[in-house]
Amino acid sequence: MALINTKEMLMKAYEGGYAVGAFNINNMEIIQGVTEAAAELKAPLILQASAGARKYAKPAYLRALARAACEDLGIDFALHLDHGADFETCRECIDTGFTSVMIDCSSHPFEANIAETKKVVEYAHARGVTVEAELGTLAGIEDAVSVDAEKALYTDPDEVEEFVKSTGVDSLAIAIGTSHGAYKFKPGEDPHLRFDILEEVARRLPGFPIVLHGASSVPQEYVRQINATGGALKDAIGIPEEQLRQAARGAVCKINIDSDIRLALTAGIRKVMFEQPDAFDPRTYLKVARENVKTIVKHKIKNVLGCEGKA
Ligand code: G3H
Ligand code: 13P
Ligand code: ZN
Repeated sequence: MALINTKEMLMKAYEGGYAVGAFNINNMEIIQGVTEAAAELKAPLILQASAGARKYAKPAYLRALARAACEDLGIDFALHLDHGADFETCRECIDTGFTSVMIDCSSHPFEANIAETKKVVEYAHARGVTVEAELGTLAGIEDAVSVDAEKALYTDPDEVEEFVKSTGVDSLAIAIGTSHGAYKFKPGEDPHLRFDILEEVARRLPGFPIVLHGASSVPQEYVRQINATGGALKDAIGIPEEQLRQAARGAVCKINIDSDIRLALTAGIRKVMFEQPDAFDPRTYLKVARENVKTIVKHKIKNVLGCEGKA
């Protein structure tokens, strides 16, 4: 079994009216929890690593752990670079075994975004690697950089055809109301996706896979569990899962989830520490945390992505 690129899986997702989950990985327990969930539900899968993840776990460990999961579970999935900042970062990942990369120059001017993305596409495609790029800016925190909600910009549908045509990119992340991190919206706010923008983008790019970042929904049960065991998370909510499911029925073929995994993992560790104050064997609490990761990923596959049985 092998690491594969995202070309075929995203095309199948488009045709099938579902999305593939792209889950952020930072350690062995997350990789095991995510891959076991996908294997058991026969779901297509993308594991993705941010710059922060590569700094924390080291790329060699992440690659080896991902390959170990392919071998252990007998499944194929993609290993994707999340939010690659520039050509050099993408090149390094392509040269060392990533099967897909994101070049994120969404904060640069349109022409500069096109130029850097095109460079990455040429290098990646010559090596069988797929490329995601982004137009528009999401609010929230990614790689410790915070973007104010006021500075976040929805994707302009007028730009997407020229961008995709001039770069040759394989998928496009757009900003339609999602945001990064665990503090997305305050309770009482009305988080919603801009389906009007999504539909207009889809009309202009028929058959082309769209990506949603910042798609964690902040499960309240985990927030409550963390706070009931001494945590101090602020109250927050995400985009309702039914809206994400609706987007996945249309042109959205890849949905990124990181924060919900972090919440599931942390809730598991805190629960054990709280209930068993004498626990000090990491296997005791990480086992529960890993099981929580598996549970949340299965929930996403069934209720948000709609990709059970599509691998
Ligand atoms: O989009 C950002 C991801 O959630 C990665 O977060 O940079 O803290 O690893 P990170
Ligand atoms: P969340 O913070 O909503 O999980 O988004 C993750 C993401 O978009 C990774 O690229
Ligand atoms: Zn993201």
